[in-house]
Amino acid sequence: MTGPSPRTFNFGAGNPDPGVFPSRDLGEAARRALTRMGTELAHYPEARGLPELRGVAQQRFERNHHVRPPLEDIVITNGAMQGLQLSAQGLARPGDAVIMEEFEYSGTIRVFKQCGLELVPVPVDEHGMRIDALETILEQRIASGKRPAFIYTTASYQNPTGTSLPLERRRKLLELGRRHSVLIVEDDTYGDISFEPLQVPAIYALANAGEVMYIGSFSKILGPGIRLGFFIATEAIIARLMPWKMDGGTSMLSQLVAAEYFKDHLWDHIEEGRQAVKDKRNVLLDALEGEFGTVPGMRWSQPDGGLFVWVKLPEDVDRVRLQELAVARGITYATGQAFHALNSDVAYLRLAFGWIDKDDITEGVRLLAECVREAMPATVAS
Ligand SMILES: Cc1ncc(COP(=O)(O)O)c(C=O)c1O
Repeated sequence: MTGPSPRTFNFGAGNPDPGVFPSRDLGEAARRALTRMGTELAHYPEARGLPELRGVAQQRFERNHHVRPPLEDIVITNGAMQGLQLSAQGLARPGDAVIMEEFEYSGTIRVFKQCGLELVPVPVDEHGMRIDALETILEQRIASGKRPAFIYTTASYQNPTGTSLPLERRRKLLELGRRHSVLIVEDDTYGDISFEPLQVPAIYALANAGEVMYIGSFSKILGPGIRLGFFIATEAIIARLMPWKMDGGTSMLSQLVAAEYFKDHLWDHIEEGRQAVKDKRNVLLDALEGEFGTVPGMRWSQPDGGLFVWVKLPEDVDRVRLQELAVARGITYATGQAFHALNSDVAYLRLAFGWIDKDDITEGVRLLAECVREAMPATVAS
């Protein structure tokens, strides 16, 4: 006989709250969309995507950032991931350098490396990319004739650090890009998951045409299984990217269903998802304070959006041992190394709070604290 499966604590998955996934409403939207437009599936999708879904992306951007991007500048992709890949293939050549935050989404790092790009990290602090450091790096690169292909940034609710670039830094970043004629690729995958009413505008919304390629996603407001994202860019940039979009088009089934669903539910669903993960963030921050508040050398980010808390461990924690201990207790998290642009083994870990059940967070952090204590060097009894 097998007993009940052991309890697990998944702080690893960067997904939205599965509890708010709208299966029933999506099912109804699918029935309506297929009844009306099912024959659309009998041919290949339009290369730039379904106009209705591009309209949703446009409306979403306008409401969040008070700027209305032209519909013809919006292209639907197979997740934000495809936008990233297209930027690496269409805007750079193998061997080119790309400047990015020192800690960055592991998927971006993988795609850029796979495309043969050199990753140039910029140090970050609790407000995101350090623009003073960026300026030095940019000037050195340009002086030595190695102009980077672009600057990539996840400026809002960053993965993994949870930080957001303040307005003044966004302006300075733009100004630097403008001064040195270097394009900015802004990945705003978490832009909608804001916990405070005041959102800082996207860099794209502050820029002149052609200075920024903006990448968005439907994964974090609906679900990554839908595989829908988009980018916004001028025609000149789109023309460099489209030759690399060699997938025969983004799934028309997904696009039809999502466009139909979002017609009625865009803002209420975003709000529901935000609230669910904000509650979890609060529980997680309380649990971290309770368990680690007095541990010297430990600190963590206080994200006001997104899905991640970035935890600094004391340097003397044995990180391999910590992971073994955590796995044995059913805890999953992502190691800091996975997010380091140069793969350095840094004393950090990332706790994702979107997917895990709210009721598991406090106990998961309590167990993690046991693991951290066990993975610290033994204090010598006097
Ligand atoms: C910063 C960032 N960009 C892009 C992605 C990929 O998103 P999508 O599921 O839309 O491809 C992720 C996923 O976690 C991410 O964190």
